[in-house]
Amino acid sequence: MIISKAISKIILSGEHAVVHGYPAVSLPVFNCSSQVTISNHSKSGIEINAPQISTNLFIEKYKADCNPLELTVTNFLRKFELSIPNISIEITSNIPIASGMGSGASISTAIIRGLAEYFKIEISTDEIYNQVFEIEKIYHGNPSGIDPKVIVYQAPFYFVKDTKMEEIKIKKNLEFVIIDSKIRSTTKEVVELVEEQYKLYPAKYKTIFSHIANISNNLKSELEEDGNIHYIGDLLNSNHNLLRRMGVSNQTLDEIVKTCLESGALGAKLSGAGKGGIVIALVASEQKDYFVKDLKQKGITDICLS
Ligand code: PMV
Repeated sequence: MIISKAISKIILSGEHAVVHGYPAVSLPVFNCSSQVTISNHSKSGIEINAPQISTNLFIEKYKADCNPLELTVTNFLRKFELSIPNISIEITSNIPIASGMGSGASISTAIIRGLAEYFKIEISTDEIYNQVFEIEKIYHGNPSGIDPKVIVYQAPFYFVKDTKMEEIKIKKNLEFVIIDSKIRSTTKEVVELVEEQYKLYPAKYKTIFSHIANISNNLKSELEEDGNIHYIGDLLNSNHNLLRRMGVSNQTLDEIVKTCLESGALGAKLSGAGKGGIVIALVASEQKDYFVKDLKQKGITDICLS
């Protein structure tokens, strides 16, 4: 039996803007992860079982039209010219699905790592990234690649699509609380919405993206230089307001952000594609317990990481 894992991520700044060539900053989240267990079985073919998303699939032969989980497996087998083994792949995860934490990229990464171990194939991190990126195209339509980058390399990144993928050496230790709005949102749909709006109102969106680029650049410097936590909080707040102007927030997310700030967060924003998913709140370490307690008293109980 083989067990493989992969982490998740949050985006500090630059979601959507990053799809259009502007910089983003994203951090790995080690406490929310997916796990894949691969075992031999007596059936012929591959059974993929993901109970949390009520998914049970069976691969007996290669087919063109299949879902991202099947494609992760068959792309791997094709790449290394392997025939279909008789195995079961069990997927579990404590990453909220369709919520901006890169659940899809994480599961693909864990599957590829597990298969590499099963077949005793030495696979480079770059190759895992390339394979996960291919699958991201199904989830995101037009992905920037930031999710697989952070998740596969397990490091913070300053990311400019097709241009610059720079690992950030963080000096500033930040504490985030992650709140799940429980509204599931499809990244592909929200990315398409922004693309449509960008085509309709290019000047407005270019201005928004440029402001976001400044935020990402400033955040990178602050993280590398043991910067000012209050200023970092302000940058997150500004990014949330720009995401609102972009049209990817909603009332629930705005209310969570407002409550976080009222409860003492230094900054808060939606993170990921938006229209649902998570809010991240930056808190001073010594304030964290009080902050979480206060949120719960105000009815915000879906805290996935604190
Ligand atoms: O998977 P999500 O919801 O975290 O979205 C990733 C960030 C986007 O910029 C919206 C899409 C992308 O590919 O960069």
